Amino acid sequence: MSTAEKTFSKGLEGVIAAQTEMSFINGTEGILEYVGIAIGDLASKSSFEETVFLLWNKRLPTQSELEAFTKDLRSHYSLCDAMKTRITSCPIEAEPMHVIRTMISSMAMDDSSPNENSVEAAREKSMRILAKTPAIVAAFDRHRRGLEAIDGDPSLSFAANFLYMLNGEKPTDAMIRAFDICMITHADHGLNNSTFAARVVISTLSDVYSSITAAVGSLRGPLHGGANEGVMKMLNQIPSVDAAEDHVMNMIKNKERIMGFGHRVYKSKDPRASELMTLAKQLAEDTGNIEFYDKSNAIEQVMEREYAAKGIYPNVDFYSATTYHCIGLKLDLFTPMFVLARIAGWAGHVIEQLEDNRLFRPTTDYVGPHDAPYVSIDDR
Ligand code: ACO
Repeated sequence: MSTAEKTFSKGLEGVIAAQTEMSFINGTEGILEYVGIAIGDLASKSSFEETVFLLWNKRLPTQSELEAFTKDLRSHYSLCDAMKTRITSCPIEAEPMHVIRTMISSMAMDDSSPNENSVEAAREKSMRILAKTPAIVAAFDRHRRGLEAIDGDPSLSFAANFLYMLNGEKPTDAMIRAFDICMITHADHGLNNSTFAARVVISTLSDVYSSITAAVGSLRGPLHGGANEGVMKMLNQIPSVDAAEDHVMNMIKNKERIMGFGHRVYKSKDPRASELMTLAKQLAEDTGNIEFYDKSNAIEQVMEREYAAKGIYPNVDFYSATTYHCIGLKLDLFTPMFVLARIAGWAGHVIEQLEDNRLFRPTTDYVGPHDAPYVSIDDR
């Protein structure tokens, strides 16, 4: 490509950097599909396990395929002793996202062939990372509460098992379904920043663990998956529903970003936000948390009035905050929930990249000086 043909797009906006068969996004009309199936249909009819199969195989499973896939996933629910020791060696003040990133990285040391990059090996490693990360999150949270880790229960679904390992008791069906829907809606989303990070790393033929570790690091940023914690902090700062408007208007006046709003691709309401809004309302009513939902709704109305013309609407993080709060999760476990789900997407993209790899190596537009003199240190 000649220099004249090269274009610079800050933040790579609008640049197509990969092909995928996993998710389709139409940001103008607010459409999200996984392998052609609308996210709303998957949220209401599918399970997280079936959704992961769909993303990794580009088709829905038969009954027996789903059973085999689920059995395989459940066989990896528990952690080895070395991992449990590493988790209990973490300082209890550590942020869960730092612990998760470190523990996923450390999983390479429990693997006898961590650098094996065949598509088949990548699928097996992905299955283990997907199955074990909930146990890592639950074990660390219990460790900081002074409690023993609980081994996974292979009779439980992904969603039920996580809540069981975290709380030590079987969750209600309503909680399981709500959590499952959160997992489905967060599973994949095109070439978002963390997925791009995962693809960039695996494109060097590094290894699956390095790739997913990089993605976790990316996701925790407040402009990406970390925004759900920012939303909850904002909701906690607003004393009542009536105070929501003044609070948001003050933030706007101070040129602060309102977390949970805006998206690089969606210029209409994120369809995942619509799904989670319904879920958050129901859960908030059931758990006596309706004020959080009402505050969120009041913020959305102010933002609609002030920002809709700029194409800034609620994104997936906005109503997931209230949803996770109603499920009883601590604030610093909100972004880790995004990790649990998005491993499905990251792994699927790693597999796609390995199937047709080419090293990512974009270029820079050099804007510095040329022919500059080297001035000796005594003369500077
Ligand atoms: N609140 C207030 N203003 C906003 C917001 C917001 N949430 N989002 C964008 N804007 C404004 C910017 O200030 C900027 O205004 P200007 O043109 O007057 O300077 C304009 O919209 C464009 O902003 P950019 O940051 O250039 O747009 P980008 O496409 O990079 O935005 C982003 C995407 C980073 C997500 C942004 O909307 C944002 O910061 N949102 C808040 C954080 C958030 O919720 N992140 C989660 C995104 S979803 C996800 O990753 C899972």
